[in-house]
Amino acid sequence: MALNIKLIAIIGTGPAGIASLYEFLHTNADGTSTVGGARSADPAFTKVVAFEQKDKAGGIWAPSFDEADYPLPPQDLLDTNQYNNPDVIHPAEPVPENLERATASQPFVKHASDATSKELQWSRSGVYSDLFTNIPNRFTRFSYNKLDEKLLDTSRLIYPFMTNTELTNSIRHMIETENLNEHIRTSTRVENVQKKGGKWEITARKTSNDGLTEEWYTEEFDAVVVSNGHYTVPSIPCFPGLAEFNAQRPGVLSHSKSFRSAEEYRDKKILFVGGSISTINLVQYAYPLAKSVYLSRRGKQRLFPWINRAADSEGIVSKTTIERFIPETNEILFTDGTKESGFDLVVFATGYHFHYPFLKEYLKINDPSNRSSVSGLYYNTFAIDDPTLGAVGVTISTLKFHTIETSAAALAGVWSNAKQLPAREEQEKWVQDQKEAKGGSIDFHYYTHEQVRAGFVDPVHKFAAVGRASPLEVDGEHLNDFEVGFKTLERLFYGLKNGEITPKDTLLRA
Ligand SMILES: Cc1cc2nc3c(=O)[nH]c(=O)nc-3n(C[C@H](O)[C@H](O)[C@H](O)COP(=O)(O)OP(=O)(O)OC[C@H]3O[C@@H](n4cnc5c(N)ncnc54)[C@H](O)[C@@H]3O)c2cc1C
Ligand SMILES: NC(=O)c1ccc[n+]([C@@H]2O[C@H](COP(=O)([O-])OP(=O)(O)OC[C@H]3O[C@@H](n4cnc5c(N)ncnc54)[C@H](OP(=O)(O)O)[C@@H]3O)[C@@H](O)[C@H]2O)c1
Repeated sequence: MALNIKLIAIIGTGPAGIASLYEFLHTNADGTSTVGGARSADPAFTKVVAFEQKDKAGGIWAPSFDEADYPLPPQDLLDTNQYNNPDVIHPAEPVPENLERATASQPFVKHASDATSKELQWSRSGVYSDLFTNIPNRFTRFSYNKLDEKLLDTSRLIYPFMTNTELTNSIRHMIETENLNEHIRTSTRVENVQKKGGKWEITARKTSNDGLTEEWYTEEFDAVVVSNGHYTVPSIPCFPGLAEFNAQRPGVLSHSKSFRSAEEYRDKKILFVGGSISTINLVQYAYPLAKSVYLSRRGKQRLFPWINRAADSEGIVSKTTIERFIPETNEILFTDGTKESGFDLVVFATGYHFHYPFLKEYLKINDPSNRSSVSGLYYNTFAIDDPTLGAVGVTISTLKFHTIETSAAALAGVWSNAKQLPAREEQEKWVQDQKEAKGGSIDFHYYTHEQVRAGFVDPVHKFAAVGRASPLEVDGEHLNDFEVGFKTLERLFYGLKNGEITPKDTLLRA
């Protein structure tokens, strides 16, 4: 059945939203693609609007180094012991009544929401000023954007990676040269998405520059892209005694997202909880400065052997998982029966939640935690219940940017009627096969750099507009960059941990 899609809303303008916007603007009404060249002169889609809750586009790569997100949810929510539920710590904002006649040009205006509501938006980026990327440069861009020659210089200390500022600048460059800002509504958060009478109704809330007033309105679209990211709402596992510990000893517990500078760790006794990328990243900065570094892990990192070697390296005290916090004695009891007291800092590097508070139907989150998954999507991209709802950025891979590009291109292909989706039964069978092969946790969405071409890029690219090159057509020849990258990350870890290089060196000698 042919679709009639002219008006598209995009929720979020991180790399996934930006790639979607670019793709739609480069798709012709006849189902051909102009990606890599000029914008379509006869576009398939007549209005494309990207909503962004922050005051600038770029997603986590539009960071604000001075302002960190809150270290933990507020105490009253910790006291519920439901703080690992994203609906509790990142609730849907109540929508004012009678918005029927409120439009973008004539919105309903009210005083801004209270401070607690702002605290629960989790909209600040987890990127800090010393961060360098951990995916090779060729794969931290979209295939149609030229790779900066400078980033191929093997003499750079962090080759094949780049500093966060270099990545921020490249995304900003794409937004500016492609004039994407004319389609982006900043400081505008999507609060509700609902299908009404065959159209999608978006309820948006624009906050004024001084933060004092809010403009609410609704607007209709034919199709919606959900691209709100999944590294923003922190996942903090529930432990007995955690809420009471935090009440008695405020400032000790925090999530890794609020980290800003290694100086926070100087002379501190620190427990890191978690055993993945954020953990190892922070340990490499903490170790040379801290009094002592402890690591509580619940198993091996499944994908990157070098992370397990780093976590077990000399001087780091290894602990099992936490059994309970004992605020009265300032102790933590671990599941092996050992106790440790007097931590100055406990950092939960325990990952993030998928979460869609604006969407009551369609995409369901299974078992909220850092291991949750999203159900209802064919190839993590097309909502099975409604082909006019898409998701970009749900696939998890070391090739995040190329999987984002692949999903965006497939949505443009299907929504311009260049290609058709298979029958619902076939889509559901893909979900079932995938579940049997990978299980129902976050692994459902995961592809290594060895699996991603055959498992995701090639089958999804079949839905792209006519003439649209595969994202891996050229870059696919360079997957070996990942092996080089893993070795570099391990070398930089020991260089930083042993104090042979400083975090500033990773930026200045880049
Ligand atoms: C600390 C850290 C380091 C990372 N390093 C790398 C790396 O080196 N290389 C790599 O490839 N990947 C890295 N990643 C993964 C990262 O998620 C991707 O690089 C990329 O940012 C994903 O893009 P996205 O658009 O899906 O999400 P995001 O970048 O999170 O963007 C989502 C956007 O949606 C907006 N938004 C959310 N909800 C709403 C709403 N309701 N209304 C309006 N706007 C909304 C947000 O404000 C944000 O701007 C890292 C992640 C983290 C947390
Ligand atoms: N550019 C960079 O250098 C950089 C830096 C930081 C982060 N990142 C990116 O950010 C994303 C998120 O990474 P992340 O490390 O923050 O999250 P993550 O990969 O989800 O890791 C969370 C870790 O916490 C562990 N954990 C969860 N609950 C636990 C519990 N109760 N007790 C002990 N451990 C527990 C998990 O164990 P299980 O594995 O058992 O679930 C996992 O090891 C990734 O894409 C990463 O690449 C990049």
